[in-house]
Amino acid sequence: MGLMITIKAPSEAFMAATYAWHEDEELNKQTGFGTGETAVKAAKLLLNSIFEGRPDSALIAIWDGKEPVGYAVLENIDVRNRSTKIHLTIKPESQNKGVGKQALALVSDYCFEQGLMRLTFSPFSFNKRAVAMAKAVGYKVEARTKMAAWTPNNGFIDLMQMRLVSPERSKLKRYTNGPNSS
Ligand SMILES: CC(C)(COP(=O)(O)OP(=O)(O)OC[C@H]1O[C@@H](n2cnc3c(N)ncnc32)[C@H](O)[C@@H]1OP(=O)(O)O)[C@@H](O)C(=O)NCCC(=O)NCCS
Repeated sequence: MGLMITIKAPSEAFMAATYAWHEDEELNKQTGFGTGETAVKAAKLLLNSIFEGRPDSALIAIWDGKEPVGYAVLENIDVRNRSTKIHLTIKPESQNKGVGKQALALVSDYCFEQGLMRLTFSPFSFNKRAVAMAKAVGYKVEARTKMAAWTPNNGFIDLMQMRLVSPERSKLKRYTNGPNSS
């Protein structure tokens, strides 16, 4: 059966699902929260602050049909320079099945439709799946930024800085459904 990936504005019920996904140790390592109870709490704190309207940020709910399967965060939405940094998390059971690729394409297209011109995606350098996924969507590696992030498990690590700019968007498969109601 094919995927039916859509993006929407998050609801309270959707947020409850995201907290549960961050019970997963591997997911918390890949997203830099670390391990154990502290990681679970830190993820919930960050997600809540964005859901409640943290400035220059936005949270996007990702669904496969009627099932919540992930979320994207737009960080540092820079209106003057028309740019933002995208973070993407797909729940553990739905990973490596093509959901991330479709979701990143949808979220990117949504950002361009809002008038943004430059999107960055910066996974940890060891996160080969995230890099492959973004490349498949059309993102290009601009740099490997040395010791650009600190994580509880691995200390300082390098990031792969990847970008997609508006003139490159024609390479994306086009989707039209932006976030509407939850
Ligand atoms: C990273 C993440 C968003 C990717 O989403 P996904 O749904 O799992 O990825 P997809 O199935 O759409 O695509 C994965 C791609 O990586 C490739 N891949 C998978 N594992 C890989 C590996 N170990 N090395 C290289 N490529 C790999 C797949 O073959 C596929 O590429 P292809 O279609 O060109 O063959 C998701 O796995 C996730 O949420 N991980 C935890 C959080 C995270 O790491 N977020 C990113 C940090 S900002």
